[in-house]
Amino acid sequence: MKLKAILERLVPNIILERYRSRHDHENISKFKFDVDGSSDVKGDIQEKFGHNSELLEFFASNKEYVVHKWHHYIPLYDRYFSSFRGRKIRFLEIGVGQGGSLQMWRKYFGDEAIIFGIDINPKCEKFNGLAGQVRIGSQTDGLFLESVVKEMGGVDIVLDDGSHHMAHFPVTLKYLFPLLKYGGIYMIEDLHTAYWKRFGGGYRAMTNFFAFIMDLVDDMHHWYHAMGLKQAVISKDCSGIHIHDSIVVLDKNKVHEPVHSQNG
Ligand SMILES: C[S@@+](CC[C@H](N)C(=O)[O-])C[C@H]1O[C@@H](n2cnc3c(N)ncnc32)[C@H](O)[C@@H]1O
Repeated sequence: MKLKAILERLVPNIILERYRSRHDHENISKFKFDVDGSSDVKGDIQEKFGHNSELLEFFASNKEYVVHKWHHYIPLYDRYFSSFRGRKIRFLEIGVGQGGSLQMWRKYFGDEAIIFGIDINPKCEKFNGLAGQVRIGSQTDGLFLESVVKEMGGVDIVLDDGSHHMAHFPVTLKYLFPLLKYGGIYMIEDLHTAYWKRFGGGYRAMTNFFAFIMDLVDDMHHWYHAMGLKQAVISKDCSGIHIHDSIVVLDKNKVHEPVHSQNG
């Protein structure tokens, strides 16, 4: 008999219920919007965020391969990515999943964009060459990441939608941020996992990725304290840190020592 079945027999229902409700916040199915496939996804995003964009069209009307995104991400993507549209930019998504996101990004960025996706799952190979190039490997493998970026001819946008594990976010960031072009964007999504133990996180846990982000915040303000840089490989070129629900965006740009003047 499986451990779960044994436990269910031994542990009184009331205790199991209490356990389930305490861990309910870790259950993403409770946030599901389109339960039976008939809800108005586009209308929901328009109404809640006052948002209308081509990206919303592409997302809401997506067919063929499945794309899985939280509704509040759509306006954020458009806010940070829209200036890269219609150009020969290089976009890398970590996590190909069921192939639909690469399809959406192709429609959004246009034919000229160089779009790559990486995934640890060899089954994702079948999406190679459809909307973009797919390479199989882990987001924690530095040599693999380097070879993909080399093949892309550099990278302007990284979107980390991969394992969502605390042990992986900083590793991938430390490999890829230095390879990002100046003026580029590094976006990490699904950071609700930072609060979930099974992803190595936890509320105010030292491993929570937002503790790492706090290092970057301290580093950004290193001019004003004596503790030095904790994550120099990123901070020396990180000109902006944006935090949204489950999304962090880092701007890559030259960082200058701050100066001020009085005029008039
Ligand atoms: C949430 S899905 C991606 C969904 C897709 N981007 C979308 O928007 O529809 C996450 C993907 O990350 C992949 N993944 C998990 N661990 C990984 C790792 N260490 N390196 C690369 N990909 C990984 C999984 O195989 C899975 O396909």
